[in-house]
Amino acid sequence: MKNFMQYAPTEIVFGKDAEKEAGRLAKKWGGDKVLIVYGGGSVKKSGLLDRVKAELADAGVSFQELGGVKPNPRLGLVREGVKMAVDFGAHLILAVGGGSVIDTAKAVAIGAADPSVDVWSYWAGERQVQAALPVGVILTISAAGSETSDSAVITNEETGKKAGINTDFNRPKFAIMNPELTYTLPKYQLTCGIVDIMMHTLERYFTPVDGNMLTDEIAEGLLRTMITCGKKAYEDQTDYDAMSEIMWCGSISHNNLTGLGRPKDFLCHKLGHEIGGMFDVAHGATLSAIWGSWARYVYKIDPARFARYGEKVWGIVEDDEEKAAVAAIEATEDFFRSLHMPVCIGELEIGVQSDEVLRKLADSATKGDTILLGAFKKIDAQDAYEIYKAAN
Ligand code: NZQ
Ligand code: ZN
Repeated sequence: MKNFMQYAPTEIVFGKDAEKEAGRLAKKWGGDKVLIVYGGGSVKKSGLLDRVKAELADAGVSFQELGGVKPNPRLGLVREGVKMAVDFGAHLILAVGGGSVIDTAKAVAIGAADPSVDVWSYWAGERQVQAALPVGVILTISAAGSETSDSAVITNEETGKKAGINTDFNRPKFAIMNPELTYTLPKYQLTCGIVDIMMHTLERYFTPVDGNMLTDEIAEGLLRTMITCGKKAYEDQTDYDAMSEIMWCGSISHNNLTGLGRPKDFLCHKLGHEIGGMFDVAHGATLSAIWGSWARYVYKIDPARFARYGEKVWGIVEDDEEKAAVAAIEATEDFFRSLHMPVCIGELEIGVQSDEVLRKLADSATKGDTILLGAFKKIDAQDAYEIYKAAN
């Protein structure tokens, strides 16, 4: 087990009617001036936004609103939000939505803490985050895990570059998690979320470090839970217990618990973000499209690890490690297929891509072949291209 630090400071309020705590928590962690951030309208349609506003008003909290966050959230709206937060003197940024809304709120919180610098400069890697306003979350989709994660992913629409930054300033102060709020999700968003949650653990599970018995068991238990409850939720999105398990897995999968004591890989995320940035494709779909091709590209480095995954997560009993590894990869892809998720780029709405595009994606992911990605196997631009090609 490698040395590690674990910091998961988010106060979780989980369960039915949890959003009734919005006013109290906003005051506790911020103050009485809140900037509410939300997406394209689902929270208006469901009535959630009105309920949240009523809770804030009851608690004596005044608020302004920044709506219109799109999936693969854009820098332009973040800049607008920074100006609003500063002009209003917001004490807390309250995200009501999913990963895109939460990440926008996080970016606004960082930008508003020092409006003298361009907020994108943090995502461009030009400076480190030194401060942020507090962020609170009311979660409406189980997927990105941003409600407890240290990450925020923003797309610069001028360049088509999608980038994430990791900093403890990104950890929300509180997350309100009512599984009933996810009943209205379109099926495709539900299944994109299931894939994303599994991937946040898989990207921590396949790494070069042995040992970590507890971390492995937690990771495998989470993946088994996601498979069982993912199937149930796919059949019935109003299955409270299944939707609850999925929601909780979403947070645990990305608050780092399933990766303690070893390095993270996150190559598939990197390659997926390139597709998301260039083509505006749903995040979870980019991951299911890439994972199988990545796994086949790397499994020979450590077939025993894939065999263990097959046995513990999928119940595959096979003495030959290579065969077991391949069966585990196939079982994962079959599960994604059973949720009608794409398992190659050609199955994404953008279809099969030209060689030129694949090279461009690989080049961008590796910053012009100047950096190596991943941990299980270090990936350069040629490797990234081969993985995209096999996934095409
Ligand atoms: O915009 P609205 O109208 O709210 O609709 C959203 C959106 O169209 C809809 N939705 C959400 N909750 C709903 C609902 N529709 C009906 N009922 C509900 N209860 O779902 C659509 C997708 O929303 P989005 O927030 O984009 O989904 P998700 O949570 O999957 O977030 C994806 C974004 O998070 C980033 C991804 O790259 C992507 O940009 N990620 C953020 C991470 C982090 N900060 O830790 C980690 C992840 O790996 C990921 O990269
Ligand atoms: Zn993800």
